[in-house]
Amino acid sequence: MDSPFNADVLKGKVALLTGGASGIGFEISTQFGKHGASIAVMGRRKNVLDDAVSALNSLGIPAVGFEGDVRKQEDAQRVVEATVKHFGKLDILVNAAAGNFLISAEDLSPNGFKTVMDIDSVGTFTMCHEALKYLKKGGQGRSSSSSGGFILNISATLHYTASWYQIHVSAAKAAVDALTRNLALEWGTDYDIRVNGIAPGPIGDTAGLSKLLPQEINNKMRENSPLYKVGEKWDIAMAAVYLASDAGKYINGSILPIDGGLWLSKPRHLSKDAVRQVSRAVEKRSRAAPVGIPTSKL
Ligand code: COA
Repeated sequence: MDSPFNADVLKGKVALLTGGASGIGFEISTQFGKHGASIAVMGRRKNVLDDAVSALNSLGIPAVGFEGDVRKQEDAQRVVEATVKHFGKLDILVNAAAGNFLISAEDLSPNGFKTVMDIDSVGTFTMCHEALKYLKKGGQGRSSSSSGGFILNISATLHYTASWYQIHVSAAKAAVDALTRNLALEWGTDYDIRVNGIAPGPIGDTAGLSKLLPQEINNKMRENSPLYKVGEKWDIAMAAVYLASDAGKYINGSILPIDGGLWLSKPRHLSKDAVRQVSRAVEKRSRAAPVGIPTSKL
């Protein structure tokens, strides 16, 4: 689908995206680029980075890839600095790098739990921490007249309730949401940096969906989903463009669930016709019942 936004809403911005070379991260990279931003993508696999940069360049988007692991502070520092060296400044940081696999709490090793916490939560904090000096109002590489930068953290809706076989990711994404709100408070106040989050539900054509929702489960899920379908990467990227653009200038500390309302869904325990009939009968009985007369034999 075409974007509903003007092609220049992110004109002149420089964005660094962890996990920006694949999945949802790559779609955000692409849409940011199509709306005027220059793009740096960070990831662990050189071939994935190279493909992403070629694809972005073929759309006329200035792009560069940097190998790195968000779990390593020295990588985070090096990549943030390389981005500023390459493009002259940093306006937008998107933390989209994540790790995931389906596993019961009983079978998950503490190191497996820690691995996901390290990538999603600690990695997000590390990237924000390293980017601060470039994102803050008046920060290195920023013109004195420009406002502070923008951080977007990608989390999930898993931890809004509880999710089967996702204890590690639920904990990690809950921490990411806490980072979003706390940094919005501290860095919004001190440095004019807006910090927001997007919490995607199941999004088609991603590693997350194929790993966590195999086809059999996917079909069943649709029966109870308000919009009866999985989302598209485009849905997430359009929200990211909106939040990063001036249209979102008063949005700080918000975490936008984009899941078609799925996290609110529950199995329908009664058909609408059954409710109509039962409801009338129950109301009739309730009106006929004596009111205010004690029935207790005590
Ligand atoms: N089931 C159970 N445990 C698993 C596992 C799985 N599928 N995959 C990894 N682990 C455990 C390992 O056993 C190990 O714990 P141990 O030392 O107690 O045995 C720990 O997690 C680390 O595994 P390792 O393979 O060394 O980690 P890694 O750093 O190479 O990979 C992952 C990180 C596991 C998160 C990997 O899935 C990954 O890199 N994913 C990135 C892409 C992705 O998942 N995208 C989806 C986004 S929604």
